[in-house]
Amino acid sequence: MQAIPPLAPAVIVNCAAMTAVDRCESEQEAAYRVNAAGPHNLALAARRCGAALLHVSTDYVFDGSKGGPYDELDPPNPLSVYGRSKLGGEERVREILPEHFVVRTGYVFGSGRDHLTRSLDRLRRGEEAGGITDRIGSPTYVVHLAERLLPLIRTGRFGTYHLAGSEAAPWFDVLRRARDIAGLAGSITPQSAVDLGLPAPRPANSARSGRAPVTAARKVLMVSAYPPRRCGVGSYAKASVERMREEGDHVVVLSPPDGEGDVRVPFGRGRPFLRAARMGPGFDLVQVQYQPSLYDRPGLSPSKVLTALSLLWLVRKRKQTEIVVHEAGRPKWWRPDHFLLHRVFARARLAFHTDAERRHLEKDWRVRTRFRLIDHAGGVRIATRLAREEARDRLSIGDHEILFLCAGFLHPDKAFERAVRAFPGPPGARLVVLGSVRDGEPGNARYARSLRDLCERTPGVALIEG
Ligand SMILES: NC(=O)c1ccc[n+]([C@@H]2O[C@H](COP(=O)([O-])OP(=O)(O)OC[C@H]3O[C@@H](n4cnc5c(N)ncnc54)[C@H](OP(=O)(O)O)[C@@H]3O)[C@@H](O)[C@H]2O)c1
Repeated sequence: MQAIPPLAPAVIVNCAAMTAVDRCESEQEAAYRVNAAGPHNLALAARRCGAALLHVSTDYVFDGSKGGPYDELDPPNPLSVYGRSKLGGEERVREILPEHFVVRTGYVFGSGRDHLTRSLDRLRRGEEAGGITDRIGSPTYVVHLAERLLPLIRTGRFGTYHLAGSEAAPWFDVLRRARDIAGLAGSITPQSAVDLGLPAPRPANSARSGRAPVTAARKVLMVSAYPPRRCGVGSYAKASVERMREEGDHVVVLSPPDGEGDVRVPFGRGRPFLRAARMGPGFDLVQVQYQPSLYDRPGLSPSKVLTALSLLWLVRKRKQTEIVVHEAGRPKWWRPDHFLLHRVFARARLAFHTDAERRHLEKDWRVRTRFRLIDHAGGVRIATRLAREEARDRLSIGDHEILFLCAGFLHPDKAFERAVRAFPGPPGARLVVLGSVRDGEPGNARYARSLRDLCERTPGVALIEG
């Protein structure tokens, strides 16, 4: 504790522990000294010098009785001295230092001294290796785990995290798969945890799910509008990029010049897609946030044909392209750009936020798509999580007041005027229309003006623009 403050670190990463799980049973005092008092001292030292502390902990803080994988909100209940001493370390870190990350991992392999590596060495020599069949965990490659730590620290979002591989399995299955892939000669003997007769009890299930599974970091090229440009898709892209970076992905953003992307090109005449196609070979994923008006102005123009042609070129040239469809509009079949877009939708990998959106696009554009559904919340950053009462209080909404809310762009296809005309609702109810004009083309500007008038004239209705 004395040694650290003069070094004035910004962050301390604590990987030290007494990890001999069985020895901890017979050397309890040493286990608590290293695994609980050690992090306690580090937290005090960090507090003294204004550093953050990332403390590595374990899946053995759980008892294994849960039916599924453990997440960060599950209550711990360790079975062994090792688990209890590690939990003690976690608790002390949390108590002493708000600026902490407690990272729980487990079933770590790849360091050279771990169970899996040693067993594979035996199989490589044609010997026999034992694999437990009745205990499962989330095998985690140590390099992937290490790659996650710095991005996590950079987020500054302190708290407890489960960082674990994405697939749960017993060691027996992992060994068998590794042996088959590598074509090793040795044999694997199935073992039961009870038969081993180890002094320390271990959880039968320590599989973990967490905010971010630990897999290889991807290189992602994101093509999108981006803040400070005022744009819903841009804000969505920013939150998605932050989440990907938190998960350890390396993300490069290609934005128009008025957005703070890492690479900036004017969005028009297909230029962002041509640039993405050129940059594509260095990336595992090229993700395009698609909404027609981001890439061109309304109406038919030669520029639109170039845009659609370039997008088709991108999806053909770079198979790792995925288009996240925010809006696609309806086709007019006589338009050459729509003819080309039809080919894009038929060919590309698409992502939708709801299956209804996917069905509409398939019906309108008469295509069968290759798609996946993605969680809309992945692109939303919840700044402060508030309880309902607290949120009502902050927004001055009375306990029993009924509030109707229409939120979205103030464009004709949202039909907010229908909700306003349907008012007044029940006595004491209010209707708030909350939105902004995304692109100020004449039709949208006219619609926003008439909606303003209508809201002003209608009792109980307010329009908030922002
Ligand atoms: N490996 C896994 O599957 C796994 C699973 C869950 C959690 N974890 C956690 O991950 C972290 C790292 O584990 P690991 O697998 O890398 O364990 P490890 O190989 O046993 O490494 C632990 C390190 O801590 C050091 N150490 C022990 N007592 C110390 C002390 N009093 N002062 C300073 N250093 C001390 C050891 O140094 P010496 O070598 O000099 O003794 C060793 O370098 C631990 O917090 C562990 O609880 C690991």
